[in-house]
Amino acid sequence: MSAPLIDPFVRAIRYLRVSVTDRCDFRCTYCMAEHMTFLPKADLLTLEELDRLCTTFVHMGVEKLRITGGEPLVRKGIMTFFRAMSRHLDSGALKELTLTTNGSQLARFAQELADCGIRRINVSLDTLDPAKFAEITRWGRLPQVLEGIEAAKAAGLRVKINAVALKGFNEDELFPLVDWCAREDHDLTFIEVMPMGDLGGEDRLSQYWSLNDLRARLAERFTLTDLAERTGGPARYVRLQETGQKIGFITPLTHNFCESCNRVRLTCTGELYMCLGQEDMADLRAPLRASPDDAGLEQAIRAAIARKPKGHDFDYSRQAIAGQMTRHMSHTGG
Ligand code: GTP
Ligand code: 5AD
Ligand code: SF4
Repeated sequence: MSAPLIDPFVRAIRYLRVSVTDRCDFRCTYCMAEHMTFLPKADLLTLEELDRLCTTFVHMGVEKLRITGGEPLVRKGIMTFFRAMSRHLDSGALKELTLTTNGSQLARFAQELADCGIRRINVSLDTLDPAKFAEITRWGRLPQVLEGIEAAKAAGLRVKINAVALKGFNEDELFPLVDWCAREDHDLTFIEVMPMGDLGGEDRLSQYWSLNDLRARLAERFTLTDLAERTGGPARYVRLQETGQKIGFITPLTHNFCESCNRVRLTCTGELYMCLGQEDMADLRAPLRASPDDAGLEQAIRAAIARKPKGHDFDYSRQAIAGQMTRHMSHTGG
C-alpha cells in the first residue's frame, strides 16, 4: 500500500468514479443530446486496463468505487469486471463497490451484482409516469426499469433512487415519488440539474428547480430532521418523521459541498477528471500503456491529484454569459 492521495486542499481522495462506457440505451434530455457521437469502441480501455487502473487507485487508498457510464450495464463483459473488482472487497481494501444505473438492464444483472458483493445501488428515475418517463428518456420504458428495481430488491440490494429536480417536469411528482419510495422502502435523493453539455438549444435555466424550494414543499407535509450521516458522496440527508424514510439532497447550486470533496473521475478512455465542474483532466492511458510496471502510473496519478481544484463554479447567471461546459455528464458519469 502506498501513501494515500491528498489534494492541495488537504482533502483525502478515497472515492473513485469510473465511467466504463459513454454509451447509454436512453437519452435523458438533461444529460445528452438526441444525436450523440459516441467514442469508437477501439478507443475504450479494455476491461483488463480498467482493472489495472482501479487496482492502482485502491493501492493508493481509494476505498469506494462507483461504476458509472453512460449506462454501465450496457458495456460488454461488464460482469467480468465487477467480479474482478470484488477481490478488493474480499481483501478488505475496498469498503464499497457500487454502481449508478438507469435500471434498464437490472432484471438481468441484479443477482450477479449482489453475488459480486455489491450491497447498494443508485438508480436514476425522475418520474413514475410512463408517458413522462418516455419523454424525459426519449424512448425508455418505465415498466422495464421498475422490473429491474424489483429484481434488485429481490436480490437483496438496497436501492437509492436519484431524481433530478426539473422545473415544469416533475414538480408535481415530488409527493408521488416520496410516497412510492416509502412504500417500496427505497432511499430517495434529489439532485439539482447542473449546466453541463450542449443539449441542442435547450435552455438550462428554465429547467432549474432549486432544492431549497423542493425542501420547503416537503416541509409543508412532513417533519424533516437533518441527519449527520453521509454515504461518502455529496448528498446531505434528512429523515421524514412521519414515515421514517431517508431523503437526500445534492445541491451543487444552492449549497456548495466541494469543501468535503473526496473523489475523482476516470473515463472509459483513461482520462482522469479531478473535478466534475472543471475541464482540466490528466491522461492516464499513456502512462498505463507505457510500462507494465505501475510506478509511472502512480506518479501520473499523484501529479494529477496535485492539480485538483478547489471546486466547481456552476452558476446559471455566469454561464448564461460565459457559456456552459461543453462536456456532457455522460462523459464522466456524473
Ligand atoms: P452515494 O454513494 O449514494 O452518496 O452516491 P453519489 O451521490 O456519490 O453518486 P451518484 O452517482 O448517485 O450521483 C448522484 C448525483 O450527484 C449525480 O447527478 C452526480 O453528478 C452528482 N455528483 C456526484 N458527485 C458529485 C460531485 O463531486 N460534484 C457534483 N457537483 N456533483 C456530484
Ligand atoms: N445535472 C444533474 N444530474 C445529472 N445527471 C445526469 N445529468 C445531470 C445534470 N445535468 C444524473 C443522472 C444520474 C446521475 C449519475 O447524474 O440522472 O442519476
Ligand atoms: Fe468535488 Fe468538484 Fe464535485 Fe466539488 S464539484 S464536490 S470539487 S468534484
